Amino acid sequence: MYFPTKEIKNSAWVKDKKIYKQAEKNPIKFWEDLAGKLFWHKKWRKTFLHKPPYFQWFVGGKINITSNIFENNFLGWEKIKNKNALIWEPELVEEQSKTLTYNELFREMNRAANGLIKLGVKKEDRVGIYLPMIPEAIISILACARIGAIHTVVFSAFSPSALKVRLQDTDAKVLITSNGYYRKGKIIDLKKNADDGIKGTKVKKVIVVKHTDNKVKMKKTRDIWWNDLIKNQSDYCKPAIMDSGDTLFILYTSGSTGRPKGTIQSCGGYMVQAYWTGKWIFDFHQDDIFWSTADLGWITGHTYSCYSPLLNGTTFLIYEGSLDWPKPDRWAQIIEKYGVTIFYTAPTAVRMFEKFGAKIFKKYNFATLRILGSVGEPIDESAWQWYFEKIGKKRCPILDTWWQTETGGILISSLPGVGPFKPSFTGLPFPGLKTDILDEKGKSLPSNKQGNLVILPPFAPGLLSGIYKNPKKYLKTYWSQCGKKIYYTSDAAYKDKNGLIRIVGRTDDVIKVAGHRFTTGELEAAINLHPNIRECAVIGIPDKIKGEAIVVFAVSKSENVSLKEKRSPNIKEQIKKQVIIQIRKEIGPIATPKQVYLVRDLPKTRSGKIMRRILKRLFTPLEIAGTEKKRKKNKSLTGFTKEKLGDLSTLANPEIVEKIQRILKKSL
Ligand code: WTA
Repeated sequence: MYFPTKEIKNSAWVKDKKIYKQAEKNPIKFWEDLAGKLFWHKKWRKTFLHKPPYFQWFVGGKINITSNIFENNFLGWEKIKNKNALIWEPELVEEQSKTLTYNELFREMNRAANGLIKLGVKKEDRVGIYLPMIPEAIISILACARIGAIHTVVFSAFSPSALKVRLQDTDAKVLITSNGYYRKGKIIDLKKNADDGIKGTKVKKVIVVKHTDNKVKMKKTRDIWWNDLIKNQSDYCKPAIMDSGDTLFILYTSGSTGRPKGTIQSCGGYMVQAYWTGKWIFDFHQDDIFWSTADLGWITGHTYSCYSPLLNGTTFLIYEGSLDWPKPDRWAQIIEKYGVTIFYTAPTAVRMFEKFGAKIFKKYNFATLRILGSVGEPIDESAWQWYFEKIGKKRCPILDTWWQTETGGILISSLPGVGPFKPSFTGLPFPGLKTDILDEKGKSLPSNKQGNLVILPPFAPGLLSGIYKNPKKYLKTYWSQCGKKIYYTSDAAYKDKNGLIRIVGRTDDVIKVAGHRFTTGELEAAINLHPNIRECAVIGIPDKIKGEAIVVFAVSKSENVSLKEKRSPNIKEQIKKQVIIQIRKEIGPIATPKQVYLVRDLPKTRSGKIMRRILKRLFTPLEIAGTEKKRKKNKSLTGFTKEKLGDLSTLANPEIVEKIQRILKKSL
């Protein structure tokens, strides 16, 4: 267990643990006071309204988040307008980086907002944003917020099919994209993906940022270059006055079924939480340079690579490319080049740095760093220690921040000036947040007992207010397991005797690959679209670098394979390749499976339910974690004794388990 250094304690916004007790007394009042520090066009009538499962914060309050970032910033516009808001680092080392001051960003946002209005975009219209990590992505998000349009950002590495599903669900009429972007030195033709993705949607206008040198086809009546759109636009656009409960954005995330769900964030509550969690957890100060490595396509990107640092008047950095490109130490170079003071990344990245070896980073002293953060998956003790010693030089606190797309901002983390920092524990709930750990019957568990992590009223202002067009799913996913008044996180956790929470992992079928969220259902639905696949099962297995990796068990449609092909020894390999291509086509390269096994059948119950649990147990943690050599030596570990597999009596086809075991053994 570690505590803040004197230096951190001196500078931190919050130094005294009394804050927890104060907030606990009356969390509604606590948030009310915090919200009051921000700029409201009109004050709210009621701070918290609860009609389970629905709730609303700051009812009747009128705001615009961009006014709080710019002209009405808490720090004072005159004070921040000439400081850098944004630093952009390109992937190409030879390309020039860019910076935008608050004033420049304000102007660009206004021009883009006026451009959107010219295209006919109105308050509440949905606008798709399918952009790489370039300043125009931030400008687009802000431009939507300025005019009250609802942005829905789609991760640029998602495939056209994944883009289509999201555009169809939101009925977006406008899409903002770019001609391309760089990924590990190659140009990715994003416009082509966008063209494919909008087929069959209601998109009428496509705005294209020219970012790379590749030529793209522009459709005359539909496509317009970003520069042409904003060329003659005025430098000022009046902010739309939004109701606190109006939707700020929709962000899709993976849920229990094949289709992703659109989580809804409201203007008022989200803003308050984004501002205060950033300020207290990252301890933003005037001279900080904050770098969150998350892409804007995910919630971490929305909140901490955009809104939170901007609301706090902080300078932040976005980077277009891969952290290890062109060399493993690119991220370290970036930290030194800009004097980054706060660095926020995922455990996967930390494990990747660790794998490259500390030698590579020896020449960097990281003297400017003062705070380190982690997010997206549990950070194991060894990665935590490595991060703490080799990057933070035992000087920087590590903030292990737990939250979800649904919670809008961080909910559990130690505070840098208070601590304690305990490896693999995320820390205490944010002041004012009530959590509990419940058993299956809904009974509160004592310390050290593992159960379901839940959030109790009044929750937090940034908790999602719904699932777009799907109230039933909202109720079922979050408010049915423990009643309509308790938010069910789907994470297993326990707390130590000091109340510090350790997150164990998901209890549903969500897989976290390199911190990216997928469900077995959506991956299976993607694979099943392939004409040669009859059915499949997807599981997540532990992976040393990525946390979890995707493994597919697929059953092919033998009637689609000719007799000649059946005799060909390559046919299996071909089908496996098809599965990989299929998943990349439907979702994107980030979902590429680590292994595909072709099997004759899948273990199923008599009612036809696929028993993924059994498939999962076929992989013992040791086999996965062990080195190649170790695995060979320990072949007996693949003996999969019956006890290890659990009860097979409910299976309609228990014999298949042994057959799959044989296939696995051969492959190891
Ligand atoms: C997991 C990411 C352990 C958790 C912001 C959660 C974590 C899911 C942590 C949400 C952490 C996130 N320690 N696990 N610090 N942070 N998770 O929606 O399982 O992509 O439910 O949001 O990530 O993933 P999402």
